[in-house]
Amino acid sequence: MITHTEHFHGSDLEKIEKFYGIKKESIISFSANVNPLGLSPKLCEGLKNCLDVITTYPDREYTDLRKTIGIYCNTDYENILVGNGSTELISAVIQLKKPENACLIAPTYSEYEREISLSGGKCHYFSIKPEDNFHLDIEALFLFLSETQSELLVLCNPNNPTSTALHIDTLSAILEYCKQHDIFVMIDETYVEFAAAYDSITAIPLMERFDNFIILRGISKFFASPGLRLGYGLTGNKTLLDEINATKNPWTINSLAEAAGKILFTDTDYICQTKELIFSERERVCNILRSIPGLKVYEPAANFVLVEIEKENKDADILFDTAIRRCLMIRNCSSFEGLNNKFFRLCFMMPEDNDKLLECIKEVIRC
Ligand SMILES: Cc1ncc(COP(=O)(O)O)c(C=O)c1O
Repeated sequence: MITHTEHFHGSDLEKIEKFYGIKKESIISFSANVNPLGLSPKLCEGLKNCLDVITTYPDREYTDLRKTIGIYCNTDYENILVGNGSTELISAVIQLKKPENACLIAPTYSEYEREISLSGGKCHYFSIKPEDNFHLDIEALFLFLSETQSELLVLCNPNNPTSTALHIDTLSAILEYCKQHDIFVMIDETYVEFAAAYDSITAIPLMERFDNFIILRGISKFFASPGLRLGYGLTGNKTLLDEINATKNPWTINSLAEAAGKILFTDTDYICQTKELIFSERERVCNILRSIPGLKVYEPAANFVLVEIEKENKDADILFDTAIRRCLMIRNCSSFEGLNNKFFRLCFMMPEDNDKLLECIKEVIRC
């Protein structure tokens, strides 16, 4: 029986530990969207062997790291800037653009709104709806951008928490419209490497045609390294790059994260293993979820899936509470703009852990 209205986020393990009396080390987080393979052996070995890098400052320009990212992303390293997680770059872009009006898609990741509000801007939410499978109607979006006089549009692709993705042709049409109306677009591709259709989702090829956008990514999720704090931005807009670099503090990426980046972007074994695991678990877990009467499963592109509980007497509060008592932590999506406590999100972990959560979901929904 739930007697509280507390909500927990993906990184709230300390809060949960205190609230439920469960040791945080024993919690399996289906909420953090982090690659379950953990650190790659190459990275562990590589970092052990280069610990002495912390005795010197990192390269102020991070040239070698940017060159490695350039090869990984198939773009010129001069189009790349690095930051302390994608979070530093989200903040840098918004603080620089200081939009009076900005358009966000609802539901989406909450950090954009926080930053826009901090910079004194107003957020306008364009809703994507469950009844449309969270499909984005771009003609309606264009009207909304014009009505709200937005100077900034933020897209998360694939989107957190819906796991839906925009096709590169749609992105191209959006960028074309925004170019004509002087709107800057920030595309958060934190989860794009998990998508099977990567080539038709990433906006990187569009950098040759448009300079009114920036792509932001990081190593926290795909490379299971949220504690290292390494993010990167890709843009064909030289002025923007110069402006961000001029306002950013020097050395915000520490020497270990700099060294780690050079190792993990070239770790093809780890990259392939991750894709194999996520692609197969995504299909397997979703098939099982779909077979449970009372659940609606939204087709995922990323390493997590959004699920709606259609059964009347059940909700995500009940599911969260039951699962966490078994040390399984899902994301109750009631705090997302546009969603409520009928929605929950889970990321794909190791098969045996996924099975434990599936059993728990079945029990809760069926009884
Ligand atoms: C969509 C999205 N963007 C950015 C971040 C933050 O990433 P980073 O750790 O690279 O700052 C998150 C973290 O949950 C996220 O979900």
